[in-house]
Amino acid sequence: MSTIVSLQHVAKEFPGQGRGGAAAVRAVDDVSLDVEKGTVVGIVGYSGAGKSTLVRLINGLERPSSGSVLVKGQDIAGLPERELRAVRAGIGMIFQQFNLLKSRTVYGNVAYPLKVAGWPKEKIRPRVQELLEFVGIADKAERYPRRLSGGQQQRVGIARALANNPDILLADEATSALDPETTREVLQLLRRVNSELGTTIVVITHEMHVVREICDTVVMMEAGRVVETGPTYSVFVDPQGESTRRFVSTAVHGKPGPETLGRLAEAHPGRLVSVGISEAASTPVVAEVFSRHGVAAAVVFGGVTEIQHRILGTLTYELTGSGAAVDAALAELATLTPVEEQTAVPVTVAAGAIRTVGEDS
Ligand SMILES: Nc1ncnc2c1ncn2[C@@H]1O[C@H](COP(=O)(O)OP(=O)(O)O)[C@@H](O)[C@H]1O
Ligand SMILES: [Mg+2]
Repeated sequence: MSTIVSLQHVAKEFPGQGRGGAAAVRAVDDVSLDVEKGTVVGIVGYSGAGKSTLVRLINGLERPSSGSVLVKGQDIAGLPERELRAVRAGIGMIFQQFNLLKSRTVYGNVAYPLKVAGWPKEKIRPRVQELLEFVGIADKAERYPRRLSGGQQQRVGIARALANNPDILLADEATSALDPETTREVLQLLRRVNSELGTTIVVITHEMHVVREICDTVVMMEAGRVVETGPTYSVFVDPQGESTRRFVSTAVHGKPGPETLGRLAEAHPGRLVSVGISEAASTPVVAEVFSRHGVAAAVVFGGVTEIQHRILGTLTYELTGSGAAVDAALAELATLTPVEEQTAVPVTVAAGAIRTVGEDS
């Protein structure tokens, strides 16, 4: 694999307001990062983490305060504007609010970058047609953006971004304004862009399910810094930092919370145990361990999800069998995967308020 974008110790500082106003903001702080050609990379973080600034550095819309930004081996940090335009032509971008030209039709929007790039007139029409077919809206060519749904508008945005055959597509919160079903369709389209056209895609998002759907690798940003990075499955299986853990937990099934656990304990008298399900400990493997030890196991909570075609999740089982058998089964499982016995937390009434005692972890 070869590196298509490489950031080396990149910082971007925005000046403060001066005269006792806000201090300078370090939007991107010493970021080093390689994007491999042909992959889909997810840049994740809370609002204000520096994600948008980072992608704007990649297409030269912002210049770094320090460090280098290599695009296809060329450092674009100090390039004059005219040469920067040539670099930008090889980079497509799509946005949360689609940013279509309202006064032009779908056709006009997609033809626009071709006209700017100086395509001969007779080549523009077939190219636009081809692009609209690729994104699945060839029948909407004469419509204006306001008469399209959000998903259709984003398809136009994608067709426009692909018009000049970019090697790199930057997607800044491209599905954040869409409903879940439309989001799934647009993500599928982006996956096709990657697999059929070979386009490298950098996806910026604050939604972990977007990462789960399409990203090969994850870059977690916090306060302008990259705090964690790795292949998507690894980051989901074993997140290192607290904020990464929190992000991951929004897109995979976890353990029951205290209230749920209280209800489960009432309904299920056996021992309740949460087991991490992954490739290392798939459901058949877990079932085999329980059955070999003569333990009956019933799933009472949780679920599994597919990430990069590999399973991941947490299942909470009610276990019934002799105490020694359950202990032996759990000891064996613990060598494969995280296992946690759940004990329902007693609820006490103090000073008129219902309080849970202890911690559920
Ligand atoms: N043009 C700008 N001028 C001043 N501050 C900016 C500018 N662009 C971004 N920032 C600041 O930089 C930080 C990172 O912003 P941004 O890159 O938009 O984060 P994200 O996309 O992760 O929400 C924020 O504190 C933001 O207010
Ligand atoms: Mg942003």
